[in-house]
Amino acid sequence: MPFTIDLSDKVVLLTGSTAGIGLGIARQFARAGAHVAGCGLEAIEQAREFIQTVQSESGQTPLYVQADVTQPDDLARLVSETVARYGRIDILASNAGTNVFAGVDGCSEAEWEINLNLNLASHWRLARLCKPYLEAAPGGGIIVVNASCHAYSSLPGCFPYNVTKTALMGLVRSLTLEWSPTIRTVGVAPGFIDTRLNEAWFDTFPDPAAERARTEAQFPMRRLGTPDEIGGWFVFLASDYARFSAGQTYLIDGGRSVVMM
Ligand SMILES: NC(=O)c1ccc[n+]([C@@H]2O[C@H](COP(=O)([O-])OP(=O)(O)OC[C@H]3O[C@@H](n4cnc5c(N)ncnc54)[C@H](O)[C@@H]3O)[C@@H](O)[C@H]2O)c1
Repeated sequence: MPFTIDLSDKVVLLTGSTAGIGLGIARQFARAGAHVAGCGLEAIEQAREFIQTVQSESGQTPLYVQADVTQPDDLARLVSETVARYGRIDILASNAGTNVFAGVDGCSEAEWEINLNLNLASHWRLARLCKPYLEAAPGGGIIVVNASCHAYSSLPGCFPYNVTKTALMGLVRSLTLEWSPTIRTVGVAPGFIDTRLNEAWFDTFPDPAAERARTEAQFPMRRLGTPDEIGGWFVFLASDYARFSAGQTYLIDGGRSVVMM
């Protein structure tokens, strides 16, 4: 029998679907046949790539909701619009986030608050709002949280981003402890993935191309990861093939973490 993942009866609520890893997650869920409801900061006119990606992979036009996940009212509207359109939520793909790299000494109170809200609290708040729908999902609901390799190790200057990404591993554990077996929660911790966030990081160096080459050379895989590769993990972890997996946050970093410095 072929090893296939068919999620054609599933509804996925995906945050941060307009760019980068979120687009890769949307593409892979659409390939698996799932209905995808996406959100992002951008107005719908700037979400065309997300809509076209899902349309071209699955033939379905996805719901898109312009929403700021740091705003509780926006989160409530995102959930209610998803349920109004699809009648259910089977999988929460909690991905939206951004780099807040300030450093321990340089971090302002405002940066600390933004980071805490976006990169940690929003995941908890949205999971609670989705809970009744995930509980009602046939076979059980799934939550996949996007943490980061910064949950495992970090670099000088990447505070306070690394603090909240580390804390997301605790959120994944607590959701598992308190909501299993009805809702299964797992996390992914991607390494350097080729998105605009990392382009912006390389652009902070005097020679961005040289810094990119230097970075890629440090990976056993000799390259950065792609959004589709992380999207594939989301789909696998949300599938029945991964149904004994709970509470863990999987590091997907092209082997970077095993290199001794
Ligand atoms: N790029 C990487 O190397 C990398 C590595 C590890 C983890 N991550 C994590 O992956 C996630 C996505 O990163 P990316 O590189 O794809 O970023 P990106 O900037 O390419 O895309 C971010 C997406 O999140 C959305 N978003 C940002 N802030 C939001 C908010 N307040 N409310 C709603 N939506 C918001 C944007 O609209 C966009 O759709 C983040 O959580 C990031 O921390 C990225």
